[in-house]
Amino acid sequence: MLDVQNVTRVFGDKRAVDRVSFTLHQPGFIGIIGSSGAGKSTFLRMMNRLTDATEGRILYEGQDILPLRGAAARNWQSRCAMIFQQFNLVPRLDVVANVLHGKLNRQSTLATMFNLWSRADILRAIDILDRLGIAEQATKRAEALSGGQQQRVAIARALMQDPAIILADEPIASLDPMNAQIVMDTLKRINVEDGRMVIANLHTLDTARRYCDRVIGMRDGRIVFDGTPEQLTTGVARDIYGADETFNEHATSTAIRPERAVPAARVAVH
Ligand SMILES: Nc1ncnc2c1ncn2[C@@H]1O[C@H](COP(=O)(O)OP(=O)(O)O)[C@@H](O)[C@H]1O
Ligand SMILES: [Mg+2]
Repeated sequence: MLDVQNVTRVFGDKRAVDRVSFTLHQPGFIGIIGSSGAGKSTFLRMMNRLTDATEGRILYEGQDILPLRGAAARNWQSRCAMIFQQFNLVPRLDVVANVLHGKLNRQSTLATMFNLWSRADILRAIDILDRLGIAEQATKRAEALSGGQQQRVAIARALMQDPAIILADEPIASLDPMNAQIVMDTLKRINVEDGRMVIANLHTLDTARRYCDRVIGMRDGRIVFDGTPEQLTTGVARDIYGADETFNEHATSTAIRPERAVPAARVAVH
């Protein structure tokens, strides 16, 4: 269903993403890992058409989405909703209005300006919030919620688009371990129960191992690993992060463990 062929993005003389290719046949849960600057965000942004690719093709159900422009590009963007590390909610708007913003791509500008949402849409937004366990927060301002709740609102906003694919750029990097787990469990549920594909850039190995069916490791813009969580051994992880034998896995972990006290992580993990 998704065929990525030689996708490349050049910034000046930097190949941020360098001939990335992979194929996904079913709506799995895919993790992309790699150190800071590896090209993870640039890749997701190209998938979502927030950034143009320099070369390559991304075929979704046979159609190349990279040349799409205007309404066709917006239509694609509503098929692959994106969530971000910083949630990107409108802080002063209430939760339900933030979720309804997921319909913006399909709404007329005038209706949007006056917040003229249909009753059916409002009920649907509340249903989605209920499913994610945050319906009681519906009338609060987004800024009044905890980080974990805000990220669930962002997921609800994504679901409002009824996307086939959810792209998540470090969705738990700003959350404490408990909220990180709630958010990852939520994404997993959406993947398993709804059959939506999830592609998530993840900054910790343990999360990639625990939630993903398939892990792609990037280094300097290139794919250096593509396999199952079981194949992601410490040695492989060391190659992905470009660290030497002093590499300590726990430096890339968000779990609550004594190892968190290990001084000065040698690997940059964002
Ligand atoms: N808009 C941009 N202009 C110039 N260079 C960029 C831009 N966006 C990303 N880069 C560069 O591309 C490389 C990959 O960045 P990024 O995709 O953000 O990596 P990651 O998400 O893995 O940390 C980095 O060297 C970064 O500095
Ligand atoms: Mg990034």
